[in-house]
Amino acid sequence: MTYDRDHVVLSVRDLSVTYKAERGLVQAVSHASFDLHAGETLALIGESGCGKTTLNLALIRQLPKTASTFGDGIFYTYRDGRQINVLELNDRDMRRFLWSECAMVFQGALNSLNPVIRVRDVVFETARAHGMKREEAYKRALKLLEQVRLDAERVMRSYPHELSGGMRQRVLLALSLILRPQVVIMDEPTTAVDILTQRSILDVLKQLRDELNFSVIFISHDLAVAAEIADTVATMYAGEIVERGPVNEVFYRSRHAYTLNLLNAAPRLSVGVERLESIAGKPPDLIEPPTGCKFHERCSFATAVCAQVQPPLVEYEGGHLAACHETGRVLIEARETRLVSAP
Ligand SMILES: Nc1ncnc2c1ncn2[C@@H]1O[C@H](COP(=O)(O)OP(=O)(O)O)[C@@H](O)[C@H]1O
Ligand SMILES: [Mg+2]
Repeated sequence: MTYDRDHVVLSVRDLSVTYKAERGLVQAVSHASFDLHAGETLALIGESGCGKTTLNLALIRQLPKTASTFGDGIFYTYRDGRQINVLELNDRDMRRFLWSECAMVFQGALNSLNPVIRVRDVVFETARAHGMKREEAYKRALKLLEQVRLDAERVMRSYPHELSGGMRQRVLLALSLILRPQVVIMDEPTTAVDILTQRSILDVLKQLRDELNFSVIFISHDLAVAAEIADTVATMYAGEIVERGPVNEVFYRSRHAYTLNLLNAAPRLSVGVERLESIAGKPPDLIEPPTGCKFHERCSFATAVCAQVQPPLVEYEGGHLAACHETGRVLIEARETRLVSAP
């Protein structure tokens, strides 16, 4: 897979998000930074509760009112080269930005279509809200529905309950592309669907991406899916991006103990179930996160320093970054363990 390394579409700099909860302040995302290039697919991986959804909702400013966002910026470059900071857009410009520049297919997509509205009415509503001609939006939606391999005319007339889960997921993907966004965020699109549906979602996504050349942030805790679809991978743990780099670097030469643990916990068809180990414990409470490396309590590599000193995100060769005090030992084990069959 190739993407345009000279053209950054979205540049996230030092982004943090907190939620006000009854028990206190939840540090859901801490100091996240990354670049997304034109045509690049970035997979965001990590266990449930690590901040993946929060980070992406922050990118399109769709967080609930209890959330506060801090940071240097979310810099977005339009097709004409103009650059803006999403954090500084007013409400009107933000509404325009959403869907026409950056679209999101939400987690639990099955419920995000209004049950009493036909698919075509969603198309008309999108057109109205964005000042696009009805006929033009309809024609474009029809084409996109065909591209995601649906009976387009029939789907247009359907109510959500008349469509299967996999069909709805594909409808949402098609609808998210009506206004030709440069960035599409997909939150766990293959979670809670059967394996054939998962296959069809991945296939149509790949095909659409090749034809329309948008960038994707693909959130998943399924590493096999991430490995298949991604150019680059970012691992999140306890609200932090702890490792990031090209997919082969992160998956075959992991430098963070958490990524290595995730890989060891991932079911591998080639290896069989006997090697399957899940990571003991669960992600920490983000109201009072652990000191030092937030993973140290669950980490088999951890030493005394890990409990005290937060490891900085260090850049290694190959555009590979990791925040792990024991990255050298992790790397050796990652090389010795044939995690997944090499590409
Ligand atoms: N509306 C909210 N109010 C308070 N805490 C929240 C809210 N939404 C998510 N969180 C907390 O923020 C953290 C990150 O959650 P989330 O972004 O949903 O993670 P992920 O998508 O990786 O599963 C978790 O600790 C979660 O409990
Ligand atoms: Mg989530």
